[in-house]
Amino acid sequence: MKLCMIGTGYVGLVSGVCFADLGNDVICVDKDINKINNLKKSIIPIYEPGLDELVNKNYKAGRLKFSTNLSQAIEKSSIIFICVGTPTKKNKYEADLSQVYSVANQISKNIKSFKIIINKSTVPVTTGDKVEKIISSKVKKNLFSVVSNPEFLREGEAIRDFIYPDRVIIGTSNKKSNKILKNLYLPLISKGAKYINTSRRGAELIKYASNAFLATKITFINELANLCEKLDINIEDVSIGIGTDKRIGGRFLRAGPAYGGSCFPKDTRALVDTANKSKTFLSLVNSVIDSNNKRTEILLKRIKSILKNKIKNRKITFLGVTFKANTDDMRESSSLKMIPYLSKKGAKILYYDPTGQKDEFNKFKNVKFKNNIKDACEKSDLIVIHTEWNEFKLIDLKKIVKNKNFIVYDMRNIYSPEKMKKQNIKYFGIGR
Ligand code: UDX
Repeated sequence: MKLCMIGTGYVGLVSGVCFADLGNDVICVDKDINKINNLKKSIIPIYEPGLDELVNKNYKAGRLKFSTNLSQAIEKSSIIFICVGTPTKKNKYEADLSQVYSVANQISKNIKSFKIIINKSTVPVTTGDKVEKIISSKVKKNLFSVVSNPEFLREGEAIRDFIYPDRVIIGTSNKKSNKILKNLYLPLISKGAKYINTSRRGAELIKYASNAFLATKITFINELANLCEKLDINIEDVSIGIGTDKRIGGRFLRAGPAYGGSCFPKDTRALVDTANKSKTFLSLVNSVIDSNNKRTEILLKRIKSILKNKIKNRKITFLGVTFKANTDDMRESSSLKMIPYLSKKGAKILYYDPTGQKDEFNKFKNVKFKNNIKDACEKSDLIVIHTEWNEFKLIDLKKIVKNKNFIVYDMRNIYSPEKMKKQNIKYFGIGR
């Protein structure tokens, strides 16, 4: 099939490449000419394991094209995916849909034959209705159909998540579109993905409800971890103990720092905003947002107590600063609050991240990037395991840290407390 992805961010690029790999002809369009020129030279704008190989392979095979020419891409494609960003508006909970509507306007000027227009961007309920209205102001209704097809990719696992999704959600009441899209996703359905056809608004809400539910699970276990710390219980036992109940499920029950990333914080806020506009108060989701916002303060308080309130001039190492492993994404990472706070209190911070130096910390004089674990840890008083990268899991800390009295604060519980004790390392984890 002939597809066009508008927006080559996370969702657009990964889905476009994966659709090409399934044998479709895909044009990835972006208004950012540098991004498109780089992609043509196989320079990938994001860190995502396996993505560069897949881009190369499909670009060379001619199934994948990159372009800035939107009207041409629309003309050549029968299915058009809108994959632009929907960030939170400044100082509000509301999602900023200006990019979605601007794309809808451009699409409306370029439809000459039947097109399926798919909202893959995460958009509040009724956005599909509004996109349809924009396009129908210029195009006859029988020439297009607007469908919601939310994406559930996780950063760092995006390709795997695309190829083996639990489900494909198609929000449309248009039979023709439903049939075409079922065919598009057939290779994934035949490998076990469930195909679920709902109303368009239903599909839009499913995306927000999924992210809000997962954020709730994490927040629930994080709050229980606080309790475990008071009662000398290991949160890992609790996660396993409740997670083995199939009604609860064991995933997304790892206690840690505040959840971050490009989706959970933004989408929980947008869901609350949608509900407020419909005069419905989502007390649970509101509490999750509040609890997650307060989580960083709780962890910072713990750092202060670990260091006996002496922060000034202490050497603190952060291993990993991104919001999770296998991504270079800093969006809403808890390190963005922790590091500036500790820096203001006079700590000397060194950090190492496998994805390199982060511009966000350049303005702090006493925050420095080291390009290897050893240099970052050598003279440290406190080593904070902030992100769960594999390369941190088997470090011989005794060997690399010269300071005899160093302390480890393992915010991802990657080390065994027993092993740390045996090595005489002062160790703190989360909820244990
Ligand atoms: C998420 C959703 O999982 C995905 O379906 C959606 O399309 C986009 O948002 P992503 O943000 O890439 O994906 O990462 P995810 O693995 O879900 O983690 C989000 C945050 O939750 C991270 O900060 C992570 O560290 C945290 N998390 C996750 C936990 O603290 N504990 C867990 O058990 C799982």
